[in-house]
Amino acid sequence: MNDFSDKIVQILNHGALNLALSLGYSLKIFDVMDKIGEPATLKALAAATTLDRRYLKEWLGIMVTGEIITLSTGPTQKENQEETYYLPPAHADVLTRRAGNNNLGVYTQETPLLTSCAMEAIQKKFPTGQGVSFDHYPRFQQFMSELSNAKHEQVLIQTFLPSVDNGTLVDRLKKGIAVCDIGCGEGVALNLMAKAFPNSQFLGVDTHGGAIARATESAQKMNLSNARFKGLDAAQIKGDKTFYQKFDYVTAFDAIHDQSHPLSVLEGIRAMLKPGGQFSMVDIKAATRLQDNLDHPMGPFLYTVSLMHCMPVGLNDKGRGLGMMWGKEQALALLAQAGFDRVDALEIPNDPFNLHFFCER
Ligand SMILES: C[S@@+](CC[C@H](N)C(=O)[O-])C[C@H]1O[C@@H](n2cnc3c(N)ncnc32)[C@H](O)[C@@H]1O
Repeated sequence: MNDFSDKIVQILNHGALNLALSLGYSLKIFDVMDKIGEPATLKALAAATTLDRRYLKEWLGIMVTGEIITLSTGPTQKENQEETYYLPPAHADVLTRRAGNNNLGVYTQETPLLTSCAMEAIQKKFPTGQGVSFDHYPRFQQFMSELSNAKHEQVLIQTFLPSVDNGTLVDRLKKGIAVCDIGCGEGVALNLMAKAFPNSQFLGVDTHGGAIARATESAQKMNLSNARFKGLDAAQIKGDKTFYQKFDYVTAFDAIHDQSHPLSVLEGIRAMLKPGGQFSMVDIKAATRLQDNLDHPMGPFLYTVSLMHCMPVGLNDKGRGLGMMWGKEQALALLAQAGFDRVDALEIPNDPFNLHFFCER
């Protein structure tokens, strides 16, 4: 076989492994094996995971040949002793829910999920250039919420907000300011902020009615009286006087590149800020030109997520379809066009995959 055939064989194996990893993550098999913490027999694993032994055996075949889980056989094993399976702690560190911001397990679900939601629609729209509606992604908000938990839970309050404006934002949040999160999804980030800063008032905005309902429910469960949510197309904020200069700080986590009309949204965000107000746009760290992304460690993965979701949803309503890999240069140009005169593109502590575009009105 030549080198390229080897590469394709590797891709076939890794694609299959991604699918099986995703099953292991969603069924919490890795979490259970991590808790067991020592080699376990198939019978013990079936009992601990409450999963079927035959299915588990086949899945373990993928995990062992793919070198995710180790199989104990041979010299160290006594004759007639059952085979045992072990998830090394170094693997659990990035595959389980305890991994926090290092959780790559949660991302293994993304390609299988987008394939099951949108493969047919993307094939249909590929020749026409039309968008794919949000309705094609019924489980997407739930997935985003899970991703959001992994991303924000141990990071947003602990390291991200303290890094904003040399730590001075946190002082203002403690005293009490008005904050809005655009494209808030199921409100994970907003509710964490509202809980941490009870003197500040928080509003989450998203077009997705189901996400807004779940965000509101979570805020109620957390007894937050300072968190509100509104179902709204963020592109409409620009013309809505009730938002005009009402906010001290606005955030958009992973949300601007999905917009059909990103310039209107950014102009609306500028309009809703009080003079001197600040905006944190957190978005994928990439370059706008493909040739500048050749060394991107997750290039194929991120372009795939973009092709299967971000770009087609952004093409709806005759939209711009920026896609997730719109890149730093295009982001800076759009923020300047929206009227932000001070924009800094900042690295985020412990987050190599995103950039923090920090803007002031
Ligand atoms: C990739 S998700 C990010 C969600 C959340 N900020 C997070 O970090 O998990 C993008 C969100 O933007 C929302 N969205 C897309 N277009 C929107 C629009 N025009 N107005 C408001 N929200 C929008 C989507 O419904 C989705 O919840």
